[in-house]
Amino acid sequence: MKLNIAILPGDGVGPEVIAEAEKVLNSVGEKFKHDLAIEKGLIGGDSIDKMGTALPEETVKLCQTSDAVLFGAVGGPKWDSASAKVRPEDGILAIRKQLGLFANIRPVKAYKSLIHSSPLKSDLLTGVDMVIVRELTGGLYFSKPKKRWANKNGRQGVDTLRYSEKEIVRIMRVAFELALKRKCKVTSVDKFNVLETGRLWREIANEVGSQYPQVQLEHMLVDNAAMQLVRNPANFDVIVSENTFGDILSDEAAVLTGSMGMLPSASLSGVIAESTFTSKASLYEPIHGSAPDIQGKGIANPIAAILSMAMMLRYSFGLLDEASIVESAVEEVLYEGYRTADLVTDDSPVLSTSVMGDYISNKVKLL
Ligand code: IPM
Ligand code: MN
Repeated sequence: MKLNIAILPGDGVGPEVIAEAEKVLNSVGEKFKHDLAIEKGLIGGDSIDKMGTALPEETVKLCQTSDAVLFGAVGGPKWDSASAKVRPEDGILAIRKQLGLFANIRPVKAYKSLIHSSPLKSDLLTGVDMVIVRELTGGLYFSKPKKRWANKNGRQGVDTLRYSEKEIVRIMRVAFELALKRKCKVTSVDKFNVLETGRLWREIANEVGSQYPQVQLEHMLVDNAAMQLVRNPANFDVIVSENTFGDILSDEAAVLTGSMGMLPSASLSGVIAESTFTSKASLYEPIHGSAPDIQGKGIANPIAAILSMAMMLRYSFGLLDEASIVESAVEEVLYEGYRTADLVTDDSPVLSTSVMGDYISNKVKLL
């Protein structure tokens, strides 16, 4: 099969972890005789430096003409001034919006062999296997007005939280379709008691839920959800939430897996038919950021990027065996005790980013 893939490494540890995902992808390509056509594009701070914009038109075109996009991370202190006119983050936000990637799928799985890497009590972590479905192109991140100004009362700022029925219906459908293939439970997260959008969110969750009688629907206020995630995480199956809530909850959920460096994600443009996801130029990215504090040290954990690549094989190309082999390779390498710095809990040796990538890539060849 021919796989046309755009790779956007971005800033900070982005290029370091994406290089390992590419290494593992090459192993998959060789093993299963796929023809990889990879093209790289600029995004984020790197692109601001070279092109004066966080998302050049060439990158948009490249993504639109590829089957899938693999993205690293953007941002860093160099571009962080409060008065900056362009920001690295604008690049990833704009490409999500331009490709219509409204559904961000963030699986959170606590690997048995990493249970001691999490600061939480290990008995809480047994059986943790959930997916956070984060709405990605609306809500507080994108709604207008969004601006800063000053008047006689001083400086002012506004962000807006707005949702249309259509936007909520389509993200709910993604959540319910996913739940059907899993443990048949959806937790819809909102702030029903305070926000109008929360009330609309809950109303529509009930309406869409009524079309899925097999799926249990529960509603949870976002503050309570933040607590339940660390109190009783094994109770969740599919969580569906507004953009900002999903951003915050998924960083919190990463603690369950032992490290931010473990969580992959897929940003999709929808569901088709009853149970298959569309494969139109979706984007795959680790949920962690550019981690400028460890940039260039070769110590970042590449697993989130590698697992994001596995999600790409599954959702964009329907290569289920290939995706499972990558996931099994990660699981086995962890089971054998190999750890990057973020995961080490005892005095076992610490693997560099690229050696971890080598181990997983070799494992793929062997499986
Ligand atoms: C994420 C990141 C991004 C977001 C930033 C880099 C804009 O935190 O993917 O979770 O907030 O969506
Ligand atoms: Mn985030």
